[in-house]
Amino acid sequence: MMRWLALVLALASPVSAQEFTTLKGHGGPIMGIAVSPEGRVATASFDNSVGLWDSSEPQWLEGHEAAVNTVIFGPAGVISGADDFTVRGWPEGQIIAQHRGKVTSLALQGGALASGSWDGTIHLTSKTGVQVLNARDGVNAVAFGEGALFAGTSAGALMRYADGAALPLVQHGFGINELIVTSEWIAYGAVDGGTRIIDHDGAEIADVTLDRRPILAMAYHAATHQLAVGDGQGYIMMLDTRDWQISRDFRATRQGPVWALAFSPDGQTIWAGGLDDVVYGWPVEALDAFTPGISGDRSFLRDADTMSNGERQFMRKCSICHALTPGPSRKAGPTLHGVFGRAAATVPGYIYSDTLKGAGIVWTEATINALFDQGPDHYIPGSKMPMQVITGAQDRADLLSWLKSATSAHTEEGDK
Ligand code: HEC
Repeated sequence: MMRWLALVLALASPVSAQEFTTLKGHGGPIMGIAVSPEGRVATASFDNSVGLWDSSEPQWLEGHEAAVNTVIFGPAGVISGADDFTVRGWPEGQIIAQHRGKVTSLALQGGALASGSWDGTIHLTSKTGVQVLNARDGVNAVAFGEGALFAGTSAGALMRYADGAALPLVQHGFGINELIVTSEWIAYGAVDGGTRIIDHDGAEIADVTLDRRPILAMAYHAATHQLAVGDGQGYIMMLDTRDWQISRDFRATRQGPVWALAFSPDGQTIWAGGLDDVVYGWPVEALDAFTPGISGDRSFLRDADTMSNGERQFMRKCSICHALTPGPSRKAGPTLHGVFGRAAATVPGYIYSDTLKGAGIVWTEATINALFDQGPDHYIPGSKMPMQVITGAQDRADLLSWLKSATSAHTEEGDK
């Protein structure tokens, strides 16, 4: 009996920051995740329910009549928005806001709740009543900051509402799905994969767009300066908001998109959801161990001045997806160790596209050169490799000569 109790207590104890965690129970994809200041996780799912998790035990909050898209913690409990056009407060499930289209996004500031909807409006709900803001197009994202309310629309406008005026801060041209607003910067992610950071006047601070689209989730942890970006291809990219460098980049789902992201209060765990019915808690620190760079540290953050041009080309354009050491890596592409002279699609354990498997290519200086002269989309149309060309012949030559030695190097360096 005591033993049994001890086991239950052990299972119920909070998970350590270094552990990989899963929350299982939803009957459909995970569309939204929120974490309370105490570390409680709430989830919004396609299965019409909101999950409120005690460690890995779910409490189901039922009442929405369609898929739940978004969830946040309010002062009185969890608040959610759904495809049934309502915003509800839990545990009772009472309707806080009634829209005429699906509710995509929620934000809270002071006593005001903003809900964005595909009906083209934002409702600002507070004790004193409801104020309806017109956004013209469907609203995908809302956020408060610097005395204003911001919204991202399906027509690609980043709107700023303040003092009774609505101003488009940016016209991105493609739908803006995600927004993070701080006092210094605004980060947004869009349908075309656009991932940009601007200041409050709309001027660009950084453009960290990769060849992945759409951007579907963003989360920010101020104390650890981490911005996490989730996309349609299942990757989570971590940016250091002090210099906007990519600090980590990893594939978080075996298939399908990353729809939901949220940090734990200490910033050590990133919770992620997508097509799977399962919520994953990734230990941020351990993600480094899963994706070793060539010298064991995050080498693509090394000072570019200390590198040859070839190494710099690799660090900037390839290292995010390719390891150089033998053995499995968690990077998106296969390791390039020993690639010269190797038939395409033959690294054991890596799952290649059928296209590359059937390509009949042997990798040599000439074929890798052609790959990036023409771009993978032309050289091997249909491969999983993203579109990318290296236009400078000298850059390609430098990359290849550096790669030749780096891919045949002994591995002690990488095993440190
Ligand atoms: C965003 C991720 C990404 C980037 C960046 C990237 N690759 Fe790849 N690469 C891949 C993927 C994914 C594959 C597997 C393609 C497939 O299965 O169709 C691949 C395959 C390859 C292959 C074939 C390997 C084999 O085992 O057959 C080579 C060679 C290669 N990449 C070289 C490079 C070089 C050189 C760069 C930098 C200039 C680069 N890649 C940049 C994702 C990437």
